[in-house]
Amino acid sequence: MRKLLFSVVVLAGTWAFMGPVAGASVLNPFRHFFEHHEPVKPQVPKAIKPSWALGQKLYVRACESCHGPKGNGEGFWGLPTGDKAPALDHLSPSENTPEFLTRMIAQGKGMMPEWSLVLNRVQIESLVQYLRSLNTQDIH
Ligand code: HEC
Repeated sequence: MRKLLFSVVVLAGTWAFMGPVAGASVLNPFRHFFEHHEPVKPQVPKAIKPSWALGQKLYVRACESCHGPKGNGEGFWGLPTGDKAPALDHLSPSENTPEFLTRMIAQGKGMMPEWSLVLNRVQIESLVQYLRSLNTQDIH
């Protein structure tokens, strides 16, 4: 009985840390703390054309932990510095441009990871489409 219990605990622990498949660990939300803010490649289908739908998928996997599920900057936790990631749902007109967003996502800045290390052009362009759709109502 004890042996069985022990095996279950060990297996559950391994699953929690490693995940049944790479990338599915329950500790995923904390990966930013372990990985020194290196971007983690989000697992999404290969795409040859940018699309809003792909952008949304990528956003959920790669961005919402810091920028919040709604893009309002209310991520699941603050950054190690105690700051919050900025809201992305009311960008100023100069920020709400494909050029600014593409550069920001690709190159990163401070705690914002340099996503061109793991995302291709189609994926970044899809994210830009998605972010711009979060900014259609607000006119500043
Ligand atoms: C580890 C947390 C973190 C993750 C994950 C993250 N960001 Fe950021 N992001 C930041 C921080 C912090 C800033 C502010 C950088 C600065 O100005 O110093 C930022 C800034 C930005 C900006 C510029 C906003 C502005 O008003 O200047 C955009 C656009 C952005 N992120 C998009 C994304 C996208 C798209 C993803 C997913 C691919 C993403 N971020 C993932 C932390 C994060």
